[in-house]
Amino acid sequence: MCIFFLKGCEASVLLNATKEGGAEKDGFLNLSLRGFDVIDDVKSAIEKSCPGVVSCADILALAARDAVQLTGGLFWKVETGRRDGRISLSKEIDANLPFSNFNITQLKQNFASKGLTKKDLVVLSGAHTIGSASCLTINTRLYNFTGRSDTDPALDPTFASELKKKCKPGGILPVFELDQGSSTISDAHFYKAVRQNRGLLISDAALLDDHATRAYVKRQSTSAAGATFGRDFGKSMEKMGRIGVLTGSEGEIRQRCALVN
Ligand code: HEM
Repeated sequence: MCIFFLKGCEASVLLNATKEGGAEKDGFLNLSLRGFDVIDDVKSAIEKSCPGVVSCADILALAARDAVQLTGGLFWKVETGRRDGRISLSKEIDANLPFSNFNITQLKQNFASKGLTKKDLVVLSGAHTIGSASCLTINTRLYNFTGRSDTDPALDPTFASELKKKCKPGGILPVFELDQGSSTISDAHFYKAVRQNRGLLISDAALLDDHATRAYVKRQSTSAAGATFGRDFGKSMEKMGRIGVLTGSEGEIRQRCALVN
């Protein structure tokens, strides 16, 4: 879902590479993105009954919402009317997407550069209530945190040992649940894991390093307050869904999501 973070919600992440170079989907940080065929199928069906009207950017925003809704109670309103971008370059990824080894200062800066607050940061990180991360992603955290063959001391030691049994130095697979034991259900459980130092990514653990984000993690990790997560998440997703939107005569309505017209 980090798809929204490069230029914004204009579906450049769906485009294929061109002679100008690799596309966003070819970039290292996006290698685990999948489901492009599902979006293509939706687009073909819509084009048959309503050609040239519904953008790939809107389809992607609606599909992301619907996919999350299928995993639990989270739901938000998706505004429509976006148009599709025409450029997608993998070389632009590094300057825009947040890296999983970012500390809290870097995360806040990255979000602020997109007009998102630290509340949005802690709330949207809650998207890691579903899905997984690869052994490759957490390898440095487990085996070479500061370059001295060490493990991140912020990671619960028992959890670190469990991970090391399956994730070997330099390994790529397997993948691990971002929210251990609850990664197919979208709920506030992720915050419990983070509070117990069982957040998988350095960026998840970093939420404990700022006064306000830590307070939010604490509040959401108690079951009574967890109920407000759904409302907060919806609000922040709506806000994120407005980033970099193209309207009017900007961009185009692609005929096929992987190709510009
Ligand atoms: C705070 C900054 C963020 C960082 C550093 C980050 C980083 C990552 C990384 C490294 C992975 C695992 C990739 C892999 O190993 O395959 C991941 C997975 C995921 N991220 Fe984020 N992410 C961030 C924010 C977000 C946001 C804002 C959303 C959506 C609102 C999101 C949704 C997801 C989901 C759903 C997955 C699981 C994907 C899967 O199962 O394949 N993330 N993220």
